[in-house]
Amino acid sequence: MPGRWLAEARRDYYRRRAREEGFRSRAAYKLLEAVERFRLIRRGDIVVELGAWPGGMSQAASRVVGPQGLVIAVDRREFRSFEESNIVALQLDILEDEVIDPILDITGGKMVDVLVSDASPRFIGVRDVDVARQIELTLRSMEIAEGIVRRGGNVMLKAFECEDLREVEARLREMFGKVRRFIPRSSRKTSSELYLIGLGRL
Ligand SMILES: C[S@@+](CC[C@H](N)C(=O)[O-])C[C@H]1O[C@@H](n2cnc3c(N)ncnc32)[C@H](O)[C@@H]1O
Repeated sequence: MPGRWLAEARRDYYRRRAREEGFRSRAAYKLLEAVERFRLIRRGDIVVELGAWPGGMSQAASRVVGPQGLVIAVDRREFRSFEESNIVALQLDILEDEVIDPILDITGGKMVDVLVSDASPRFIGVRDVDVARQIELTLRSMEIAEGIVRRGGNVMLKAFECEDLREVEARLREMFGKVRRFIPRSSRKTSSELYLIGLGRL
């Protein structure tokens, strides 16, 4: 199928580019595209990323926020230590563990500017199960965002095209001035993966 072939070629291109540019995963380019399109993250920001292993997006965020900023990378998997001095890694399961307090301990109680969630389950290939697990992570990420994102701050949440999506968007609209759907160029055209962008927390 030409669509599948093109998607594979696109993935290879971003994988190679990530290796050359020192990113741990091609996910870095999804974040950089969101920064370019929505001004999601700015210099000096405090950014939290949920579902951050192996760390490509957090590395990209680290370059955008610069030395005055901070990135807190959260995942249930253990990170290989980061060379970037403005990334702090936290090994937590966002469904099982207390997440908000450990983050606020790092920021000294300060609310954060941006929350990015790229958390996704291990897919088993049964659509209903995979979608339900993804949406559970999306909703949990939104709940964490409610507890830590400052007024005026932004979010980018991984989600899935599904029946519950409108409800998730409606909840986000109550929290943010603008809500957009975002499918990065580097995402597979054949997958239902998308991100919800929330700009300007009310
Ligand atoms: C698509 S990968 C993330 C890629 C990453 N954003 C990057 O830039 O390299 C999804 C991640 O979600 C994490 N994840 C899934 N469920 C989780 C949970 N309950 N708590 C924490 N992390 C979780 C997985 O361990 C996996 O590393």
